[in-house]
Amino acid sequence: MQTAGLSTDCDLRAPAYKQSENFLKTGYGKQAPQYRLDDEIEVTTEHHRHLRGVLEALSASFDRPIRVLDAGCGTGRYFHCVRNTAELVGLDLCPEMLVAARSPVLAHQVSIGKISLLCANIFEISFPDGAFDFIYSLGMFALGCPISPGILQNFHRWLAPDGRFFFNVTDRSGIAWQKRLRRGIRSLFYRVGPQPVKKLLDARSSHPVNCALTRCELAALMRESAFDRFRIISQPCLSPLWHGRHLECLAWKHDLPPRSDRPRQNKFFRSLPVGF
Ligand SMILES: C[S@@+](CC[C@H](N)C(=O)[O-])C[C@H]1O[C@@H](n2cnc3c(N)ncnc32)[C@H](O)[C@@H]1O
Repeated sequence: MQTAGLSTDCDLRAPAYKQSENFLKTGYGKQAPQYRLDDEIEVTTEHHRHLRGVLEALSASFDRPIRVLDAGCGTGRYFHCVRNTAELVGLDLCPEMLVAARSPVLAHQVSIGKISLLCANIFEISFPDGAFDFIYSLGMFALGCPISPGILQNFHRWLAPDGRFFFNVTDRSGIAWQKRLRRGIRSLFYRVGPQPVKKLLDARSSHPVNCALTRCELAALMRESAFDRFRIISQPCLSPLWHGRHLECLAWKHDLPPRSDRPRQNKFFRSLPVGF
């Protein structure tokens, strides 16, 4: 991925998500046509079948037509996976990815009533409380977009009282130890180093913010969040496009459920196609 423009456009006093914005826009902007072509390969993989199964099961689990947010939707790789959906908002900060999302992969299988594509940074957008029944985000928290207590708070607020949230992040345990050591040293220098060092690292880097988490770190973030229940699994990704592991998290809003509802929720998690 190209890093052109990063060292000059990057404001190091800005929050982490903002420091990555130009990098992501430029990088995904250049990649968008190839990314869309890669969708055709990705949908044939076991990895995609797994995610499709989860999205189908979650979206079909409501007893009403639903409103869905695909956060960081890119080229719309997962639009054909949701069921029972009256309206879907596909949000992404990269305009070129959204242009490609107008003709998503397996378009003939898309069964959504209305799709709105919205160009915005997820950290800066606002939706009314309870605007969505289901929010999912796949691949967005992998690179340059760190998951934070603040964004979890927003997702929780934007969900209906029985809303569900499904997302993934890169699992740090799936990254080779040499690479992890390099990234660790780099992020230490980035945090404590003087501005010229940070600028140098930005200019050389293809990863402005390290987003990979361990299962414990993600669980700690989720426990701190307002989500009532969550499950995390670590999934291998053996696609020809990427090898590694993702942590997948399914969170249930379900404001203050009576204790007697808990077994029903466990049954729901168990009914999903993989071991949530
Ligand atoms: C790896 S791609 C994943 C796209 C799609 N979800 C998929 O799985 O094919 C990550 C996408 O997230 C978008 N993205 C990253 N950070 C974002 C942010 N802070 N706000 C909105 N979109 C963001 C990028 O522009 C990119 O299109």
